[in-house]
Amino acid sequence: MAQAQRTAIVTGAARGIGAAIATRLAADGMSVAVLDLDEGACAGTVEAIKAAGGDAVAVGADVSDEASVAAAVERVAEALGGPTVLVNNAGITRDNLLFKMSVADWDAVMGVHLRGAFLMSRAAQKHMVEAEFGRIVNLSSVSALGNRGQVNYSAAKAGMQGFTKTLAIELGRWNVTANAIAPGFIETEMTAATAERVGMPFEDFKAAAAKQIPVARVGQPEDIAHTVSFLASEGAGFVSGQVIYVAGGPRD
Ligand SMILES: NC(=O)c1ccc[n+]([C@@H]2O[C@H](COP(=O)([O-])OP(=O)(O)OC[C@H]3O[C@@H](n4cnc5c(N)ncnc54)[C@H](O)[C@@H]3O)[C@@H](O)[C@H]2O)c1
Repeated sequence: MAQAQRTAIVTGAARGIGAAIATRLAADGMSVAVLDLDEGACAGTVEAIKAAGGDAVAVGADVSDEASVAAAVERVAEALGGPTVLVNNAGITRDNLLFKMSVADWDAVMGVHLRGAFLMSRAAQKHMVEAEFGRIVNLSSVSALGNRGQVNYSAAKAGMQGFTKTLAIELGRWNVTANAIAPGFIETEMTAATAERVGMPFEDFKAAAAKQIPVARVGQPEDIAHTVSFLASEGAGFVSGQVIYVAGGPRD
């Protein structure tokens, strides 16, 4: 029997880890919605996918906005078919020590990670239940274990793990799995911005991080994309509710 054509949505896919995930899922044969805040910013990822012979569309949406999410998922369903693979990757950091953290920075981080993953999953599950197939992959982080200056982000990333386990329990009967990936240090604009914030050249920042990592290097977006590819595959249907630390060791 020929394998069904799958449609995937990857949020925050204009750059970084999300772009690598979108590119990989397209190479795996899926039609991919490259979703990010600014539709124009998705062009690079979409063009790279198309140049490699894949199928992709750019979708501008704010994952923390209910109406924006509903419209985006509807648009994807019309353009590419009902999405049965969802990667909740969009993310932001607003780091500060607790005593200096503003309510706006707390809310912004919760809004993108937790509210965003909730809204996207709720909108997409309808298509997965209809298809009796689904794969949801949520981006957590080693910061879920606690990280100085990230009380908002670590709470959100720990929340992603509980969210994932409950999705796995609720949606399993429709052959929908949900898993989380907790990356360690991955070389992207997000970690480059952290280096800038702490006043360190990025190369030194990466070298210092690599010293703490058992495999003696920092991660690349493709390391995460590879793990998503496995979790989103047809054969991974008995893996659900798990958190996989992709950090070059037990943790970074
Ligand atoms: N880079 C790392 O070391 C690392 C480690 C652990 C976890 N993560 C997680 O991996 C994911 C990707 O990180 P990255 O390093 O590629 O970050 P990045 O900043 O390079 O990319 C994040 C993308 O998300 C998009 N985005 C932000 N808010 C959005 C919203 N409301 N709606 C839609 N899109 C939105 C941004 O525009 C951006 O394109 C994030 O969830 C991040 O928390 C990253």
